[in-house]
Amino acid sequence: MTEKPRLIITVDGPSAAGKGTLARRLADHFGFEFLDTGALYRGVGLSVLRQGLDPADENAATAAAKALKPEILGEPALRAEETSTAASKVAAIPSVRAAILNWQRDFARSAARNSGGAVLDGRDIGTVVCPDADAKLFVTASLEARADRRVKELQARGETAIYARVLQDMQERDARDQGRSISPTKPATDALTIDTSDLTADQVFERALAFIATKMKA
Ligand code: DC
Repeated sequence: MTEKPRLIITVDGPSAAGKGTLARRLADHFGFEFLDTGALYRGVGLSVLRQGLDPADENAATAAAKALKPEILGEPALRAEETSTAASKVAAIPSVRAAILNWQRDFARSAARNSGGAVLDGRDIGTVVCPDADAKLFVTASLEARADRRVKELQARGETAIYARVLQDMQERDARDQGRSISPTKPATDALTIDTSDLTADQVFERALAFIATKMKA
């Protein structure tokens, strides 16, 4: 019997570019485990906020990262805009990233062993967390397209969303995520970049699959 392939697929990119949709679909398609690494930073941000502390406070954020419990990752409050901002602040702190790094690597290793593969989505998965991954994707889209999608997502959840405000928050968050000195959002040199601004989810999925197929043959 041939063994199932052990494949690590990374999907990085800015928020609301469509990387979560793609990463989940790829994990379903291959029967691999999936990790949304942004949820880990959101979990840290949310737990700092709940303690009434400042997410930019290094000591508070590092303690929260070390004490992070998986239960918080399923909470609806994880997706609130306030949590998004807190997540991007804690994510700029090196000791928070160090605490989260091993969690992510352990996940990738055990998923590859148990399920034949893993799909991880985030900002620095192809560059820092899993630099030896088999197939790396970088999913991006224009700021306007991403803000538009985020507004629709918030409205679908029954929340009021003002486009100009969402756009500005996203711009600030992009600047923090891309401009930080540690693990900024950027494509790995061997990543396929897909601009999803004018593509359907199906088209994005097909492009990603074709790319992964070339890596599986290699
Ligand atoms: O993908 P997201 O919006 O859920 O991510 C939340 C925040 O966490 C975002 O500001 C960027 C940060 N993040 C990161 O720095 N590194 C990752 N691997 C994943 C997310």
